[in-house]
Amino acid sequence: MAGRFITFEGIDGAGKSTHIDALAQRWRDHGQHVVLTREPGGTPLAESLREQLLHTAMDPLTEALLVFAARRDHLRQVVQPALAAGHTVLCDRFTDATFAYQGGGRGFDPHVLATLEQWVQEGLQPELTVWFDLPAAVAAERRAAARSPDRFEQQETAFFERVRAGYQARCEQHPARFMRIDASGTREAVWAELAARLEARGW
Ligand code: TYD
Repeated sequence: MAGRFITFEGIDGAGKSTHIDALAQRWRDHGQHVVLTREPGGTPLAESLREQLLHTAMDPLTEALLVFAARRDHLRQVVQPALAAGHTVLCDRFTDATFAYQGGGRGFDPHVLATLEQWVQEGLQPELTVWFDLPAAVAAERRAAARSPDRFEQQETAFFERVRAGYQARCEQHPARFMRIDASGTREAVWAELAARLEARGW
């Protein structure tokens, strides 16, 4: 039986990481085997590509190709074997981030991204994508209180509004897969909404 593949998305500062960890703990407590992973990353090769992506200047096509190269390795080494073993895979970002950041944020051609998506994923899609949505200005305030910014986190608020619009477009294209969570409230309020929405699905 194939396991469940769930991805988590949102602009930098949306606060998704703490909720992913809490969800992994909750399902492990219920006896599920949960694999917690992230993109770009999740394998030694993909983690080294992540370092480059986050800290080295490059043109948008190079950026898109590296993101998908990292994804291909991660899918083959980690995600597909885990799903085949029936495990639940929780992935911090996936291809919707590419459409949002490289597509929406950088303005890269989404048709090229869709071609790469097809090559790399061969039809594999998450069963559910939880999108933590909030205005870019609110996310910027939260980021200001956090650690030193990487190449994406240094972008101006207008960049993150384009990223957000990129997520919105993907949400409209894939309404059955997307679960939009209002991430502008307190951490407790966001967790309560997420938990209730998952319980409503019987998860
Ligand atoms: P992020 O997931 O926010 O990790 P952290 O919490 O450690 O900062 O950082 C990953 C960055 O990579 C984020 O700014 C978005 C970017 N990214 C892309 O531009 N394209 C992609 O396809 C993915 C997966 C991430």
